[in-house]
Amino acid sequence: MVWNLRNGVIAISRDGRVAVMNDIAYRVLGLKPRVKDIGRHFSDVLKDVPDVSRIVAGAFEISHLPNRAELRLKHTGKVIGYTLSHVKDSRGRDVGATLFFKDLTRVEQLEERERLRDRLAALGEMAAAIAHEVKNPLAGIEVMAGILKRQLPESPDAQNILADIIKEAKMANVIVQEVLAFVRPLRLQVEDIAVPDVIRDAVTMAESHSALKRDVNVRVDMPEALRPIQGDPHQLRQIFTNLLTNAFEAMNGSGTVEIAATAIDGEDDADHASGPTILITICDNGPGIPPEVMERIFSPFFTTKPQGSGLGLAIVRKIVDAHDGRIDVGERPGGGTIFRVTLPVRSQQQLFG
Ligand SMILES: Nc1ncnc2c1ncn2[C@@H]1O[C@H](COP(=O)(O)OP(=O)(O)OP(=O)(O)O)[C@@H](O)[C@H]1O
Ligand SMILES: [Mg+2]
Repeated sequence: MVWNLRNGVIAISRDGRVAVMNDIAYRVLGLKPRVKDIGRHFSDVLKDVPDVSRIVAGAFEISHLPNRAELRLKHTGKVIGYTLSHVKDSRGRDVGATLFFKDLTRVEQLEERERLRDRLAALGEMAAAIAHEVKNPLAGIEVMAGILKRQLPESPDAQNILADIIKEAKMANVIVQEVLAFVRPLRLQVEDIAVPDVIRDAVTMAESHSALKRDVNVRVDMPEALRPIQGDPHQLRQIFTNLLTNAFEAMNGSGTVEIAATAIDGEDDADHASGPTILITICDNGPGIPPEVMERIFSPFFTTKPQGSGLGLAIVRKIVDAHDGRIDVGERPGGGTIFRVTLPVRSQQQLFG
């Protein structure tokens, strides 16, 4: 019965020896299954997952055992939902304990995505309304300043000021256009595309945008035989252009950016079937993202740069979502930032739609 369960199960006897540990338990905890674990002390078997070991250790110490509690595993970032219960003999004495758990990571991600979508919808409507209202007066200012400039050819002071006004109005207009582009719903033009081509284009684009790539070394590591994926080439290029531009800006002119792609076979575990995906990592050795900022970097208009609009990552997120992909960000071991983009070879909509 235990082997066929769709949850992770660990059972221990009263003296702390592991009596049962099923394959799902090993997989969710990121441990290698070993036959000889049975009979060993749980603190030994679970030494690489101290957070779980601590829960099991509480089995005979606390009277109210947790039912349906949640825990984020530190080493993998996975979220598990778990229930700890006692095993009693016929006379009601505790003879052991069991831990049942389930990987909730996917559920959590979906919920988070849902929340973000709601927030963006409200924010987007407002931004679109404002941008729309501002667009016309802005165009008016630019045109009228142009007229005035032509009428005052003799006054160098006026010429300078009017040139500045026109320049500023143009800049404001770029922001308005960006906002409108961001809030407009995405329509993907899906085709078969080669990820390495998209990435190479993005490198070229990011390099041409960025004044800051003087001593930046860009390393691309990609198997040429990577299978094509279904996606919108322009939108996907935008993802990597934005991520690379951020990396260049973070490193302030010198450092190394590494982009790598790998194919990942779909895993069909009990909880969710996911088809084959491609994982693309973008890694820089800049200063990294401070933890207190990490949560907000994907929010529209969040920026730490004097000239930034804060839309780069919000757009990235939107495009990744539209492709049914995932993106997460972490600290690069040794300093810097690593962005991981996972794109399905075929998206859900194409499978079921
Ligand atoms: N590779 C990175 N290293 C360090 N910080 C980063 C990195 N990528 C993003 N950030 C942080 O996340 C913030 C948001 O990034 P985002 O691309 O959304 O906006 P931006 O770059 O500030 O402005 P824009 O892209 O619109 O010009 C940045 O201001 C920066 O603080
Ligand atoms: Mg940016």
